[in-house]
Amino acid sequence: MVNFVNKKYQVITYGCQMNVHDSEKISGILETMGMSKTDDLKLCDVIVFNTCCIREGAEDRAYNNIMALRELKKEKPDLIIVVCGCMPQQKEGKYDFKKKLPFVDIVIGTYNIGMLKSYLTKFDIEHRKIYEVFDKPISNVEVLKTVRDDDKNAYVNIIYGCNKFCTYCIVPYVRGRERSRDLDEIVQEVKCLVDKGYKYITLLGQNVNSYGKDLQPKTSFASLLNTLCKIEGDFKIKFMTSHPIDFNKEIIKVMAKQPKIAKSLHLPVQSGSNTILKAMNRRYTVGHYLKLINFAKKKIKNISLSTDIIVGFPGETDKDFQDTLKLIKKVKYDQVFAFMYSKRTGTPAAEFENQIEEKVKKKRLNTLLRTQKFIQTDNITKCFGKVYNALIRTDSGVTVGFTDGGREVYLPSDNVTDEIENTFQNIRVETIRNHKLSGSIIKGKK
Ligand code: SAH
Ligand code: SF4
Ligand code: F3S
Repeated sequence: MVNFVNKKYQVITYGCQMNVHDSEKISGILETMGMSKTDDLKLCDVIVFNTCCIREGAEDRAYNNIMALRELKKEKPDLIIVVCGCMPQQKEGKYDFKKKLPFVDIVIGTYNIGMLKSYLTKFDIEHRKIYEVFDKPISNVEVLKTVRDDDKNAYVNIIYGCNKFCTYCIVPYVRGRERSRDLDEIVQEVKCLVDKGYKYITLLGQNVNSYGKDLQPKTSFASLLNTLCKIEGDFKIKFMTSHPIDFNKEIIKVMAKQPKIAKSLHLPVQSGSNTILKAMNRRYTVGHYLKLINFAKKKIKNISLSTDIIVGFPGETDKDFQDTLKLIKKVKYDQVFAFMYSKRTGTPAAEFENQIEEKVKKKRLNTLLRTQKFIQTDNITKCFGKVYNALIRTDSGVTVGFTDGGREVYLPSDNVTDEIENTFQNIRVETIRNHKLSGSIIKGKK
C-alpha cells in the first residue's frame, strides 16, 4: 500500500462512551494520515475493531463480527484489519486473538491506541503481523485530531482508569489506575468545542467524581465543574460516570447553582440490597445512596435520574432482588440500564461459589424491565405543566426541544423563530398524547 492517502477506513465500536470517544480519536489518527471514512465495508483498506469485554455478550458480538470478515480478507488480501481496546487488553480473555484470528493484522490494547499510525506504517512496510499489548499506560491518549460522530454533543476525557475494583468488573484490569487529565488541557479543549458550536460537552471517566485527587496541586470534580462553567457561550455540561461513594453534596450544590450544568444525573446503584452491595465491593449502603438521591431531588428541580443495575449477581436471593425492585420504585428513574451478571475471568466474583442460574437471571431481568417500563410511563405523565430548559432543534420542518434528560418536547411552528434555533430555551409541557410531549416556549425568559 505504501501510502495511506486517499485510502478508505471504518472504525467499528463496542462498549461504553469511553470507547466511542477512543474511536473518534482513532478516526482522527487515520484522517491525519490522509484516509477517509466509508460506510461500505467492501471499500475499506483499513478496518479497526475497537472492542469491549464488560460482559460475555459484548465479547461474542465483536468476535463474531471480526470472524465474519474472513471472506473479505481472502478476496482483498491488502485489507488491514486492526483489533484494539479492552478485549486484547485482558490477561485471560475468552478469545486468544493470536490463535483464533490469524487473519487479523494488528492487535493492540487500550494503552497504545495513540501509536496506531506507527503500527500501520510498520505493517505496511514489513508485512508482518503486529501483536503489542502494554501492561501499563505510557501516557494518556491525546491526539491532534478527533473526528466526532455527533454535531450536538462532544465527549471530553477528564480521567482515565478506575481504582474501585468492584468484584464483578473487568474495567480496572483493562484500563489501569486513575489518571486525571491536566486541568488547563481540559479547559482548552472545552473552549475550543464551544467555539465550534457544540451544545453539550460530556465529561468522561469511569469515575469522574475522583477527578483531581492525583493531581498536583490536588483539585476536585466540583471545582473542575465551577471552572468550566466560567467559559463563555451557550452550552451545557454533562458527565458520566459517577460513583455513589465519591459523588457528594458539594457536587449536587454546584449542579443546582450553575445553569450551564445539565439537570440530569447517571448514578449507578447496581443493587438495592446491602448484602449484595457489600459482596460487590461497592462500599456504600442503600441508605447512603438514597440520601444522595433525595438531596439531588430536593436541590435540583425536575432532575432526570438514571442508573445501572446488575441482576443475578452471585448469591442474590429473591429477597435481594425484591429490594432492588423496591429501590427503583422509590427513586423513579427516567432510565435504567439493566444487565444480567456475566462472569469475568480474573475478577473475584467469577470465583464466588453461589452463582445464579441463567434462567433465574433472565426472569429477574424481565421483571425489572417490566417494572421500570411502568415507572417511565408514569414519569411521562408527571411532565405535564413542568418547565424544562431545552435545546431547540429543527429537522425536516419539525421543531423539538431536547431536555437535559433526553426527552423530546415538540413545539408548534408558530412558536419558533430562526434566532432560537440551536439555543437553550425554557419550555412548558402543555400536552401529552401517546407518550409524546408538546409544549411552548416561555417567552422573555431564558
Ligand atoms: N464506571 C461505571 C461504569 C462501568 S461499566 C460505574 O462504575 O458504574 C457499565 C456497567 O456495566 C456497570 O455499571 C455495571 O452495571 C455493568 N457491568 C460491569 N461489569 C459487569 C458484569 N461482569 N456483568 C454484568 N454487568 C456488568
Ligand atoms: Fe467497574 Fe466499579 Fe470501576 Fe465502575 S467503579 S468501572 S463498575 S470497578
Ligand atoms: Fe467495555 Fe472497556 Fe468500556 S470493557 S465498557 S469498552 S472500558
